[in-house]
Amino acid sequence: MHLQTLLIVFLLSLAYGQDRQLISKLNPGCPNCDSSYTLVYTRAEGQDDTIHQIWDFTRGVPSVIYAVGTVNSTMTIAWNRREPENFTFTESVKYSFAAAIDKLYEYEDCQDVGHIDDRCPRRALPLRDVGWALNASILTSDEVMITMHGFYKDRRRSGLIHMKLDLLPFTDYAVDLPRLIHTANSSLIDISLVNFTTSMNASRYAIHFLMVSTDNWNDVMNYTMRKSLDDEHTPGVFEIIEVKTPKSRTSGAGGFMQFRPVGYTEQERSVSSSTNAYISPITRKPLPNNMTTLGRFYKDYEPVELLAQQMFISFGLPGDGYYKQRNFTSWSFTFGYGSPPVESVSLFVIIIISIGLGVPVLLALSGVTFVLVRRYRQRRNLPERFIDDE
Ligand SMILES: *[C@@H]1O[C@H](CO)[C@@H](O)[C@H](O)[C@H]1NC(C)=O
Ligand SMILES: *[C@@H]1O[C@H](CO)[C@@H](O)[C@H](O)[C@H]1NC(C)=O
Ligand SMILES: *[C@@H]1O[C@H](CO)[C@@H](O)[C@H](O)[C@H]1NC(C)=O
Ligand SMILES: *[C@@H]1O[C@H](CO)[C@@H](O)[C@H](O)[C@H]1NC(C)=O
Ligand SMILES: *[C@@H]1O[C@H](CO)[C@@H](O)[C@H](O)[C@H]1NC(C)=O
Ligand SMILES: *[C@@H]1O[C@H](CO)[C@@H](O)[C@H](O)[C@H]1NC(C)=O
Ligand SMILES: *[C@@H]1O[C@H](CO)[C@@H](O)[C@H](O)[C@H]1NC(C)=O
Ligand SMILES: *[C@@H]1O[C@H](CO)[C@@H](O)[C@H](O)[C@H]1NC(C)=O
Ligand SMILES: *[C@@H]1O[C@H](CO)[C@@H](O)[C@H](O)[C@H]1NC(C)=O
Repeated sequence: MHLQTLLIVFLLSLAYGQDRQLISKLNPGCPNCDSSYTLVYTRAEGQDDTIHQIWDFTRGVPSVIYAVGTVNSTMTIAWNRREPENFTFTESVKYSFAAAIDKLYEYEDCQDVGHIDDRCPRRALPLRDVGWALNASILTSDEVMITMHGFYKDRRRSGLIHMKLDLLPFTDYAVDLPRLIHTANSSLIDISLVNFTTSMNASRYAIHFLMVSTDNWNDVMNYTMRKSLDDEHTPGVFEIIEVKTPKSRTSGAGGFMQFRPVGYTEQERSVSSSTNAYISPITRKPLPNNMTTLGRFYKDYEPVELLAQQMFISFGLPGDGYYKQRNFTSWSFTFGYGSPPVESVSLFVIIIISIGLGVPVLLALSGVTFVLVRRYRQRRNLPERFIDDE
């Protein structure tokens, strides 16, 4: 089994090569951290730059920070007991993009439309109240992966949050639906909301994102929805949503989030267990305060150098019986630097399409040829007959 995995990894790395060299550490520089404090730092060194990545759960709020520096740049973390306090770089950071899931919202879907709506009641469940345990981890040069289990410390709000973060040094499709593409420049993140109790009649759960980038404070992040014909990897879902920072929009050297408008209501992801995922408009948000990891990370920037935005992702389909029907919602997205990856059409699909288009075209062509040849023959024959008749 292990040998097989190794062989597959070996073949994959042969096939893809490695675009970045990964070096990762759990809680670097924190002697007192135990397994209930998790911060993974990954240095992903490429040919032209190094991406410093932080996946932080120490303050309850899951936070992902990307900071792009020169190839040889390094970062160190100074800890205040078990929480990261100062992040210091040897060279100035070229670009940085971060996102945190700071709150979940339980919302009453009073119109039964699926998505969160200002006109209906909602209540916030801040993630700073969540305790996290590291469930599994891989910290190698071939893969950096952690799975985290979170639970609300307040027993009256029961519910489990499972998260998985995964980074590979090459481009690949995710194993699970909706088979998002992740590259050496982006991490794949899955989140599941399991067995939450509901306090309203028509409860659903939404995820609230806080996003920060080193762009001008009065610019905006926005999203686009584009069509994809890639039915091979994600059957039945033809849209891809991309959130981009201003730098990503203008030069392709900014931050992005990419996902499909689909979530799942069962552990086993399939077309039949899928539900809709909705993105809300992206709006302005004050900078996170210095008691959060994002606040600590960006504390030395001028306020005008930082863009802070927020959005909701909510889930559901009209008539599906709300969250309590399944007590489970899961969703995946990728978070990265540069231009969002574009799905390529595989050889298999090209062959199928060629056959699919080629056969009718051949038939049509042969039909046309047949008719033309017959016409031509008739034309040639006709005058002769006329002549004969005369
Ligand atoms: C990075 O460090 C290596 C080895 O110390 C050195 O050879 C290389 O020139 C450095 N690269 C840059 C861009 O400074
Ligand atoms: C973090 O930086 C501040 C200001 O530079 C300093 O006062 C503080 O001692 C540092 N904290 C740690 C844990 O090094
Ligand atoms: C990880 O989670 C699974 C399923 O909940 C559990 O069986 C397993 O013991 C956990 N492993 C660790 C190391 O916590
Ligand atoms: C990753 O980013 C680097 C520059 O930072 C770029 O050269 C490379 O093409 C990107 N790779 C992918 C797969 O997007
Ligand atoms: C959620 O609840 C169901 C039914 O009570 C149970 O079978 C399942 O194990 C629970 N899931 C987790 C992750 O605890
Ligand atoms: C979901 O949880 C509620 C209690 O919070 C329970 O009454 C209901 O039966 C559960 N539904 C399923 C499908 O497990
Ligand atoms: C919830 O449903 C119960 C019974 O159907 C009803 O009495 C109650 O008013 C409803 N609550 C809300 C907030 O709609
Ligand atoms: C995104 O925002 C920029 C700047 O305001 C604007 O020029 C662009 O049209 C917007 N794009 C979309 C798709 O809304
Ligand atoms: C956090 O900010 C407040 C003011 O907003 C300031 O009084 C406090 O000293 C700051 N704390 C740290 C640790 O920098």
